[in-house]
Amino acid sequence: MREGTAQLIRREDYTAPAYWIRSVDLTFELDPAKTLVINRMQVERNADQPAQPLRLHGEDITVTRVLVNGDSVSFRHEDGQLVIDTLPDTPFSLEIRNICAPDKNTKLSGLYQSGGGLFTQCEAEGFRRITYFLDRPDVMAVYTVTLRASKAAYPVLLSNGNLVEQGELPNGKHFAKWHDPFPKPSYLFALVAADLVAREQHIRTRSGKDHLLQVYVRRGDLEKTEHAMNSLIASVVWDEARFKLPLDLERFMIVAVGDFNMGAMENKGLNIFNTKFVLATPATATDVDYAGIESVVGHEYFHNWTGNRITCRDWFQLSLKEGLTVFRDQEFSMDMTGSATARAVKRIEDVRQLRQIQFPEDAGSMAHPVRPDSYVEINNFYTATVYEKGAEVVRMMQTLVGRDGFARGMTLYFERFDGQAVTCDDFAQSIADANPDSELARQLPQFKRWYSQAGTPRLASRGRFDAPTRTYTLSLEQHGLPSPGQSEKEPYVIPVAMGLVGRDGRAIPLQLEGEAEASGTERVLVLNQPRNFYTFVNVDVEPVPSLLRGFSAPVVLNDHLADADLLVLLQHDPDPFNRWEAGQRLALNRLLAAIGSDEPLVLDAGFTDALRAVLRHPELDAAFKDLTLTLPSETYLAEQLQVVDPQKIHAARESMKLQLAQALRDDWAWAFEQHQVAGGYSPDAVSAGKRSLANLSLSMLCLASAADGDTVWPGRAFQRFKDAGNMTDRLGALSALTGSHAELAAPALERFHALFKGDALVIDKWFALQATTPEKNGLVFERAKQLLKHPDFSLKNPNRARSLISALCMNNPAAFHRADGAGHAFWADRIVELDGINPQLAARMARVMDRWAALAEPYRTSAHAALQRVAAKADLSNDVREIIGRALQ
Ligand code: ARG
Ligand code: ZN
Repeated sequence: MREGTAQLIRREDYTAPAYWIRSVDLTFELDPAKTLVINRMQVERNADQPAQPLRLHGEDITVTRVLVNGDSVSFRHEDGQLVIDTLPDTPFSLEIRNICAPDKNTKLSGLYQSGGGLFTQCEAEGFRRITYFLDRPDVMAVYTVTLRASKAAYPVLLSNGNLVEQGELPNGKHFAKWHDPFPKPSYLFALVAADLVAREQHIRTRSGKDHLLQVYVRRGDLEKTEHAMNSLIASVVWDEARFKLPLDLERFMIVAVGDFNMGAMENKGLNIFNTKFVLATPATATDVDYAGIESVVGHEYFHNWTGNRITCRDWFQLSLKEGLTVFRDQEFSMDMTGSATARAVKRIEDVRQLRQIQFPEDAGSMAHPVRPDSYVEINNFYTATVYEKGAEVVRMMQTLVGRDGFARGMTLYFERFDGQAVTCDDFAQSIADANPDSELARQLPQFKRWYSQAGTPRLASRGRFDAPTRTYTLSLEQHGLPSPGQSEKEPYVIPVAMGLVGRDGRAIPLQLEGEAEASGTERVLVLNQPRNFYTFVNVDVEPVPSLLRGFSAPVVLNDHLADADLLVLLQHDPDPFNRWEAGQRLALNRLLAAIGSDEPLVLDAGFTDALRAVLRHPELDAAFKDLTLTLPSETYLAEQLQVVDPQKIHAARESMKLQLAQALRDDWAWAFEQHQVAGGYSPDAVSAGKRSLANLSLSMLCLASAADGDTVWPGRAFQRFKDAGNMTDRLGALSALTGSHAELAAPALERFHALFKGDALVIDKWFALQATTPEKNGLVFERAKQLLKHPDFSLKNPNRARSLISALCMNNPAAFHRADGAGHAFWADRIVELDGINPQLAARMARVMDRWAALAEPYRTSAHAALQRVAAKADLSNDVREIIGRALQ
């Protein structure tokens, strides 16, 4: 499919480009079957590089002519590139004409068709599928773009920057000309030609400038754009307030598209979004969807500075923009919640996500540093490591220099590098240089191991209380595990936020040996040795250490705490994150013991009483209760084990869930009644927290009912499902029915489908809910297989494909890893099929086998066979081949 052969690209091989492209004038004759592109570039040699031919990237496009300074020149094709050997030494104009076929572009990279419109996705290397170019982020040009198309089919014509001209053309055509004053790399180019309508909002920012904000969607979807627009306004206000970064464009556009490989894309002034992260009404979107829209709108908007104004020198630096921008969107969402507990809830959710996806990645075949050293297909490195672990690295910097110090560092970063394409080193150096007296500045080279070493570090702690001397000595010890290509790890700089908690719940003042007096009850210890000791003085009673508060570093902590200690923290820790963590650890310990022993799991009263106390607590937030009473996921459990038996994990977790449902039955009923939200729908954190706790309670009540044949709660759930005033409650009730395998689940699912059959995003939920139903007797898998043949199913739409295939294979381990190997065979068939359509998406789904080698038998053998079957496909894409190749290594 792809021109050229698979090649390993190495970070250390970076060289600056041999030519610069200073400006581009693009004209498009848009047509789905045959789009003509006229590409006029101003090019000059990079004087720092030896003289050499000009090599332009191109993929799946056909060149029709090449002119240099107006004269046609000879050119050749080599390794998928267009090569021009003889060129002037002085700056020259280069005109290339080529054609491409958007309607055949099922990869959804480059210019493609979706729902009758034309859209682009250029990051990372899609621009070369539109025209020949130096398609690398360090080549930045000023773009002028003219779009010509049928006015009836494509009434809206958009590109980056400002609209400078538009008008009519003969034969029912029209045109629009756009100019983007900011030089940008090709991956930030975008165009849209479609039949769309926009919600518009004029705003005046602090600096007194006026801006037009627009959210473009298909006709009929306008009423679903209010939350996206509100989120955009909030993002503009937040970035100006927190980081003094203003909106730099007169016009800022968001366009929603139904077929999209990722979440969204930060093209300069013209963000293109997956509809999933734009469209919402209370009737069709859940609280989780509303939160997702806020964070993705924020993320893409924040890229305007961290990504667009300062971009990446090469793709190995991807975390420069992604890690930093995820950090920024996380902070934005936290600041938007408005309360300290709600901030902590957001932090817990982010860490849960990190552990669910990034930790397994860091322990599996695709483990790579935040700044990778090599890749075959860059699209395979848009990973949780680059994004979420990258954000943790930025967060640690903020912890080490303080919030104000970090803001100073950001300011220095923009002073130094605005308008440039730079590296992760440049960023870290800026934060350190702006804070010369910080731990970060003192230990920068060692700190940067977070960028270069893969794997999740292990941190172990032990505490010793000495009553006679009234001292408490804490030892902290770190070690890194081997990862592909990195057998040895050097020690990291690990910020450990901590406190000491008395058994009565008192926060103990902290005074280290040698300090004149105690200062505060919380501090950050910075571990940079393999092992270090910290002696606290004037400690009267044996405390419980509360370590890694707020998850101050992305490590796996073993604090050797006993149940009694964890119960103290669950009850008293002033840090909500560690309070939640203590509850998770109590559950984890019991689950792991059951999985390892073959004895049935029997819950003890100490544990259930503690959870009851949380559930009934008069002051705790509903959202916090919901998180604390939600058991660790099967994937997280799997990560704690050397040999993974997904069926055993599932059985143990289901058993614990059922016992918790039964032991706390009256409390769940109480919680359900207490957390009804009256009045109209609002997605705010407090209301959302109540809804999630009510939904959890209802699920638990239905589970308990199923176990003893009582039909009252399933009946109530069905009624609630029918009457629900919003999607969160409706889907919550539906999932209480499916999750307890109630008889009413089938009619409810049918009704749900009938109710929402025109709404693609809701039908995605319908598929995903069925694919993620907790497995029972293999029936969930059977149902998922049937759903493949459902008329609404299609592999061509990424959201739909994910809603069934990823949901089953990635989010339902017990349905996927079957003793008969049918799940693995199902996976192999889908990967092979999808690879012919959309390799990028196929490669992403292939990732579910990253951890196959840790599986117990017979799962391991069938996983291996499935991998080999995919590897044997003759014309496998580079995307999938890289993933499968690494898994089989
Ligand atoms: N830069 C986009 C974002 O994180 C992601 C685009 C990734 N696209 C891709 N094909 N890998 O906001
Ligand atoms: Zn991003």
